[in-house]
This record gives sequence, C-alpha cells and structure tokens, in this order.
Amino acid sequence: MPAYSSGFRSLDAEHDDLALDVTGEIPSWLSGSLVRNGPGKFEVGGQRVEHWFDGLAMLHKFRFDAGSVSYSNRFLRTETYRRAVEEGEISSQFATSGGYLDQLKSFLGDPTDNANVNVARVGGEYVALTETLRRVRFDPESLAVQDHLDYADDLTVHHVTAHLQRDDRRGETVGYATQFGRTNRYHVYRVSDEQSAAGKIERVPVVSLDVDRPAYLHSFALTPRYAVLVEPPFVTNPMRFLLPGEGGFIDNFRWRPERGTRFLAVERETGDLVVERRVTPFFFFHTVNAFESEGDIVVDLVAYEDAEIVSNLFMGAVGEEVESVDERGERAPDSGPDLNAADGELTRFRIPVADDSESVRRRSVYTGTELPRVAPQARTKRYRYAYGQATAREGQTGLVKVTVETGEATEWWADDHYAGEPIFVPKPAEDVEGTEGADAPEDRGVVLAPALDAERGQSLLVVLDGERFEELARAEVPHHIPFGFHGEFFPEVER
Ligand SMILES: [Fe+2]
Repeated sequence: MPAYSSGFRSLDAEHDDLALDVTGEIPSWLSGSLVRNGPGKFEVGGQRVEHWFDGLAMLHKFRFDAGSVSYSNRFLRTETYRRAVEEGEISSQFATSGGYLDQLKSFLGDPTDNANVNVARVGGEYVALTETLRRVRFDPESLAVQDHLDYADDLTVHHVTAHLQRDDRRGETVGYATQFGRTNRYHVYRVSDEQSAAGKIERVPVVSLDVDRPAYLHSFALTPRYAVLVEPPFVTNPMRFLLPGEGGFIDNFRWRPERGTRFLAVERETGDLVVERRVTPFFFFHTVNAFESEGDIVVDLVAYEDAEIVSNLFMGAVGEEVESVDERGERAPDSGPDLNAADGELTRFRIPVADDSESVRRRSVYTGTELPRVAPQARTKRYRYAYGQATAREGQTGLVKVTVETGEATEWWADDHYAGEPIFVPKPAEDVEGTEGADAPEDRGVVLAPALDAERGQSLLVVLDGERFEELARAEVPHHIPFGFHGEFFPEVER
C-alpha cells in the first residue's frame, strides 16, 4: 500500500463555505475562487472503479477574501451520480466497463455525465467537463448542478477534449472532438462569445479532418493563428467499440509506434491544413503552451516515450508489473495508481510551417513533471515560465517552476506531501506597484496547489509566491481530498 493511498480513498463529507485555518500569510489582494474537479468516490454498488479517471465527480472550491480562505465541496449530482448512489449502477467510462450493453450504449449516444476532469467558463456558463459530450452546468457559488449545457448545433461527435482553450483576443473558446463511424473525423471548432451572449452557444467548425485510425487525444495547442492537433500513435479501430468485450473506452486503443506522432496544424481563419508532419513517436496528455516564432510553430508539451502511463494510472497499478491495459483484471482492489511510474518530459517542438524539407526540432526542457500550467496572460505567446507538478522523487510529488527557454527550474517539496496541479493567479494590475500592469512580470502573483499530507492523511492548499516560488501560506482542510485533476481560478466568483 503506497503512502499516498488516502488520495484514492472516497470522501463522504461535504462542506459549505467552511473557514480554513491558515498558517503564514495569504496576500490580501487575492480575491476570487479556485474551483477544482476530480473523483470524490471510487466505489459504486460495492464495486471499485478500475481507473483513477473514473471516480464520481466532486467539485472543490477555495474562496479567497482579504487574506482568508474558505472551502466548499460538493459531489456533482448528475444522472450518473444518482444511478450510482441510488441504484448501485456503475456506468461505462474511460476504463471502467459497465458491460457490453453499456459500452454499446455509450458509443451510440448515452454517454456518462460524470464530468470529473476539468471546469471551464464557456459562453458565460460554468461547466464541469469530461471527455464525453455531456457538459454539466453548475452554480459557482453553491457548486450545485444546474443542467447540461447543450450546444445549439448538430455536430456529431463521440469523444471530446476536457481542455478547451480560451482566446480573449478573438473572443472565443476553441476545442476539438472526434467523430467515430464509417468515416472518422477530428473536428476543430470555435464557440464565439458574441453569439453565446445572444443566447446561442454553438460550435462552429473550423475544419473537419478525415482520419483512418483515430488517436486518443487529450489536449491540443493553440496559437493566435493556428490550432495544432498532436496525434500520438495510440489509436483505435472504432469498430472495436461495437464488438462484445469487457473494458471501457480506453481499452479499445493500441500503441502503434510505427505510425509516429503527427502534428496537424490548421489555420484558424481559413480552416486550411498547413502542417502535417510525423515525428518519432511519443505519447502525451497535456500541452503546456504554444506560440508562433520566425515562421515556426512552437509547441511545448509533457511527453512520454509511449502510452504505458495510461496503464500505470489504473487503480491497481502500484507494485505490479503492468504490461498492457489488457491485464488490468488482476489488480489488487485497494491500491492506487502508480504516481511515480513515469517521468513526463517537458519538451519543446519547433515546427516549420512553410518549408516541408526543414525538420521538426525537439528539445527536452525539464524531466519529471505533469499537470502543466502557464500564467493566463502568457497563453499563445512567447513566454518565460511553466508551472507543474514535480514527479521525480519517490514518496512525494512537488511543484516546479520552469524557465522554458533555459530549462532552469525552482522546485517546492515537502516530506510526505503529494501536490497537484498548480494554478498561477496574476496580481491585478492596480495592485502592482510601479507598473502599468501590462509590463508586470509574468510571475508576479501566486501559485495555488492542492497537496495531500500523506503522513497525516489530510489535505491542504498551498500558496506560493510566483517569483520566488516559496511557500507564503497553507490552508488546512479538515480531511483528505482525493487526488483530482484540473481546476480554474475565477476572480469574479467572490461568494
Ligand atoms: Fe487533463
């Protein structure tokens, strides 16, 4: 049993605006709410879900006001949640099978609404997101579920990204989705703020690309001019979804390194496919950032040699030799994913746009990280700093600030602590002395990250100074918080 096993234990308690004890000092300018998403419950009807990604969604909110912080948490009370709690029904998800009929059902259009991966603001609505086409609207004040967000379009898709990207300059949100069927397609789309404000939240396709064997894509890259799909050779023959068999969505994917990893860059204005390049295979979940430079597209992402990381995150992966997803049936029910099994490599790719004869250049920036973030003002621009979870030490996960041009890194570690995704919150321009805001350094602000103190089995929120990357304060939660995935800071959510 790993030290961090409490991070994979279900949490029953729910709180409403509970004042947390703070050690240290939270900057008084910090105002607004960090909302995080992740699994809160791992057992349904006496059965444990098979993969970390399949626990029942719980939202957590840390609300900051004048140096204090309060905590609220609430299960996302969806249809999947109701069926799980009231009827003990486990639904077909990322890796947990509800049986053949459920698999078929999920493929044909009754997918789970257990949106436990991320949160976002789309067209003015607060939504919890997963990789099915169900988006769950919630009230950011109470964290109560409202209803589903249905787009006013008829785009047929089966797998979507939970990592939508905002472009404030163009006033739109960009995403992509995969359509399986006789013809498989990747759709890149935009949702315009203006249309959404007029009551029509609609995905407008930028491009639809036919693909023979669709890959598992978790996130993508965006620059002012381009949307870049990064396609690792972890692919499926969609007919597999229709065959009888055990397993969830991801069990239908296979690693085919001979295909290489493909970069597909699409011009956002015209929908033209301007780059299609194959490189030595790698797998990834998360892009860090992307921008344009001297005719190249620069994409930073956290790369893995192959897709074994997916197997390592099955609930029983710790302490076992896991060769492939097919062997998952043998795993011990109480152990968790193996958090130290793989070291993600923050990697920079430079992709020439105009000249196909020029090679794609690859440079390793920093090894041992996941859950990367950048300052909101740095997105889609040449930037200096990436923040991430640091994974290189056994027995803990820390936090890291990486200077992406040089690979120089400052790390934060605490014994027996397991830190999650760090989110950078910029100090508002009016609070930055001696600048007009626009010139404020990219790291002027704080970094907020959840952490589990495994020794005590209790969680906390860590507040780091963005520049020095040193701990300013920590707020104690009265229990553990199961390891989650992603969150967002909403400055406007003040209650
Ligand atoms: Fe993710």
